[in-house]
Amino acid sequence: MKKLAFILLLSSFIWTSAHAQRENVISDESKVPAYTVPDVLTRLNGKKVKSEKDWFKKQRPELLKIFTDQVYGKVPGVLGISEVKVWETSDNALNGLARRKQLSLFFKKNNLNLEVNVLMYLPKTTQKVPVFLAYNFTGNHAVYNDPAIRLTESWVANNPSVGIINNKVTEQSRASANDRWPVEEIIKAGYGLVTIYYGDVDPDKDDFSDGIHPFFYKEGQTKPESNEWGSIAAWAWGLSRAMDYLEKDPMVDSKKVAVLGHSRLGKAALWAGATDPRFAMVISNESGCGGAALSKRIYGETVEIINTSFPHWFCENFLQYDNHEELLPVDQHMLLALIGPRPLYVASAEGDQWADPKGEFLSAKYASAVYELLGKEGLPVKEMPQVNHPVMGAIGYHIRTGKHDLTPYDWTQYIGFADKHFKK
Ligand code: GCU
Repeated sequence: MKKLAFILLLSSFIWTSAHAQRENVISDESKVPAYTVPDVLTRLNGKKVKSEKDWFKKQRPELLKIFTDQVYGKVPGVLGISEVKVWETSDNALNGLARRKQLSLFFKKNNLNLEVNVLMYLPKTTQKVPVFLAYNFTGNHAVYNDPAIRLTESWVANNPSVGIINNKVTEQSRASANDRWPVEEIIKAGYGLVTIYYGDVDPDKDDFSDGIHPFFYKEGQTKPESNEWGSIAAWAWGLSRAMDYLEKDPMVDSKKVAVLGHSRLGKAALWAGATDPRFAMVISNESGCGGAALSKRIYGETVEIINTSFPHWFCENFLQYDNHEELLPVDQHMLLALIGPRPLYVASAEGDQWADPKGEFLSAKYASAVYELLGKEGLPVKEMPQVNHPVMGAIGYHIRTGKHDLTPYDWTQYIGFADKHFKK
């Protein structure tokens, strides 16, 4: 009896101290506990990955399966675009600098119908052009000051300061995010921009009754199974469907699509790049926890914090790693490695410690082993570069001054990275 009481007391002490430890978010490097990152070139059975064949036939599929079952969740079925409706095109956008095209992709199943609006700005040339494909946070109309852009009718998180009231955008919402989208620079550099409001695919709320998830429910099902997709995987799925469309668009070079995302949308871009090899380049802007940052460092946002604040982002199985990152059979450098040998850019910001810049850098560094095995230079440096000193191999990285954001500085590097890899 005494022994049992002692064990109970001891385990409750261990439990409370583990939780107490996590009450404080680690934002001081000296407080990062000892952790072990699994070697990307060692298989679960302990065997070493020695060749390109070992990587593509054995290690890559195993890692992809772990991320699918334990982290993001699997897509429960197949569903293609039912209809493409082009709303309008113009050869006179951006004061004559660009073409604009607006269209919707419709998805239909049983009596469900989903509309995903796509806005494209393309350089005026007779050649097919490389493009950046990127989700936006509040609707296509927020990206650029152009009255011709259709206002989204989808649910958008309220933000009265930019005219989003009762979850609907208004005229006041136009161009409200244009700081993040240097459209003219992108066009002048010879790239197109293809953008979609991410909430068209799945509204960003803890509710699986809307967006794409219900299309795959069996009778009586109200939420995905524990190994099935959360919202990040749904958004990644949407990027792949956009790619299905881009492969058919006569103005786009679909072999040169760079999928880009900021923050939660960076997580989605990385997962899209890992699951869909048609993306020729992947760009993660401050994607942080569940994106480019190593989870096992538990610096900044942790698995428990993200699963608590955003219970709908990952699959239910991911919850078992709350406060137990050490049990994760993978870490995020392995997600980055799944993109290899395709060009990958990881960016951090000094003022965004929440996303763990060092953890993002280390992740890119550890992923480099796979790029090297595949005959590419991964990250060209071993130590974290200084602030505002981008480095570019097949993996690029920068940490810039400033806060959590997608800025013209970031875009300048992404355009440079695309020039390096797409225009050689
Ligand atoms: C929150 C969240 C991050 C996410 C970010 C964003 O800060 O904790 O994980 O990246 O939102 O999407 O802006």
